[in-house]
Amino acid sequence: MKLFDTHAHCDDERIEKEYKNGTEGLITDCLGANIGNIVNIGTNYKNSKRSVELAEKFDGVYAAVGIHPSDCQAIDYGAERAISEIEELLSHPKVIAIGEIGLDYHYDDTDRERQLLYFRLQMELAKKYGMTVIIHDRDAHGDCMEVVREFPEVKGIFHSFSGSAEMARELCKMGWYVSFSGTVTFKNALKPKEACVAVDEDKILVETDSPYLPPVPHRGEINVPSYVEFTAREIAKLRGISFDEMVRITNENAKRVFGIKE
Ligand code: NI
Repeated sequence: MKLFDTHAHCDDERIEKEYKNGTEGLITDCLGANIGNIVNIGTNYKNSKRSVELAEKFDGVYAAVGIHPSDCQAIDYGAERAISEIEELLSHPKVIAIGEIGLDYHYDDTDRERQLLYFRLQMELAKKYGMTVIIHDRDAHGDCMEVVREFPEVKGIFHSFSGSAEMARELCKMGWYVSFSGTVTFKNALKPKEACVAVDEDKILVETDSPYLPPVPHRGEINVPSYVEFTAREIAKLRGISFDEMVRITNENAKRVFGIKE
């Protein structure tokens, strides 16, 4: 059984430029190796549309469409139009989530009010269409939890989870999924190592966030979906289960959260 990478940006320009045969070459290689499915993630309208194109072209690839908290900063034609652009993409059969959306408070020179506006508008959209959401939460755990609680009907994934074990347990109780990236393989990353053990078996997911966050032993390189295996192996070890069991669990969970029937 192959792995399910629930979060990748294969259209990223670093991959397009530096990987042999670019984005489509990379996807072909991964699907021909250890990867069964990839969700390619949008962060703005342009790359959300590209995600849909990739999903159309490759059987194993699905698309998430949305506006990232950092990307919303540059939009100069108003939130209403920006949201309606995303809304138009939702009817495509291979669009399985709205994302990534959320909050990023890592840098100070960001308009937090605008981030909160786009986050809430896209949660509203998810509620309207019954869509799964993919949350980007960087240094914004408190506000992310607050917004999520405002929309009890909406469920989804906290991606590249960086919160505590306690927060992970709380999310599971609320019916949310928690996805781990290569950070769990970092030697000193005690928090994600603790959190990935705390997550309920039916709520855990794995991802790469390619081309970012390459796992050990590929740090410093461009990350690619195939490397999700290092993350899955590390979590299997930490949870005391076999790698095959980990692959089975994360595949089942991914298909359930995205509503994929195959
Ligand atoms: Ni991402």
